[in-house]
Amino acid sequence: MKIAVLADIHSNHIALEACLKEISQEKVDAVALLGDYVSDCPYPQKTMELVRQIRENWACWCICGNREEYLIQYRKEGATGWKDGSRYGSLLYTYENLTERDLDWFESLPVSAHIRPRAAAPFLLCHGAIHQTKPDMLYRKRPGEILAGIKEPLLLYGHTHIPYEYSDKGKLLVNVGSVGVSVDGQTRARYAILEYRDGRWHPEIRGAVYDTGRVLREFEESGLLERGGMWSRAICYTLLTGRNYSYKSVSLVGQWVRKEGGSVEDEELWERAARQLGCFDWPYVVPPKEEKRV
Ligand SMILES: [Fe+2]
Repeated sequence: MKIAVLADIHSNHIALEACLKEISQEKVDAVALLGDYVSDCPYPQKTMELVRQIRENWACWCICGNREEYLIQYRKEGATGWKDGSRYGSLLYTYENLTERDLDWFESLPVSAHIRPRAAAPFLLCHGAIHQTKPDMLYRKRPGEILAGIKEPLLLYGHTHIPYEYSDKGKLLVNVGSVGVSVDGQTRARYAILEYRDGRWHPEIRGAVYDTGRVLREFEESGLLERGGMWSRAICYTLLTGRNYSYKSVSLVGQWVRKEGGSVEDEELWERAARQLGCFDWPYVVPPKEEKRV
């Protein structure tokens, strides 16, 4: 048995298309989608259409990510409170470009899924942790402890956007990385192929090359670059470098608000963060490669 596993597409339909092109050559028996289908990149409807095609063309397991939870929660609370700008603009853009049907589907998704295939060992799917979508489960527990706590010999997850593999006592923990917003120091779209042979699962993390420039042009023409402020700029710089500018921006702004007071919606703080991190200029200036630490 062979499966493809994709996580954290984040509306990057161009990256998803590149992965699907490779996956369709592989004769996989099923596809697993591990959440964070949308938000951050332009035209979420295009990603939702590809997700519908995946579900039609393959046996498919889908679970919920934290971004889907934000959107579901926003609808539940009456869809008010978000406005354009660095803090909420990108999420609001995504929300406005989804249909009620998309949100209903997100609401139907489980947080984790126990899969028992007929021709292979069972496995467990989740986004960031087994009982909740976030934070990353390795934040609180060691990988060996996590594996000891589950029945299945394989646990597949995403959320951190950083591929990771750990094996212990015949069990395997695999983070498949991110299709849409890689932050592992490279710019390809990450996904995994897992093959069951000789009585165990063999993972292979792949990286599909895609046209980042096309995604950045869509940021401009869709209006998302404008509406999402410095957050959207940080995502663009992340796509260009594989470095996590968006996480660093939100951390800096949070730190300053805790220390100096003010609001996380203050655009001046976001601009200060973008300038400090080197993701402010637009048209973008490709940042130099980071020096390798020995
Ligand atoms: Fe994500």
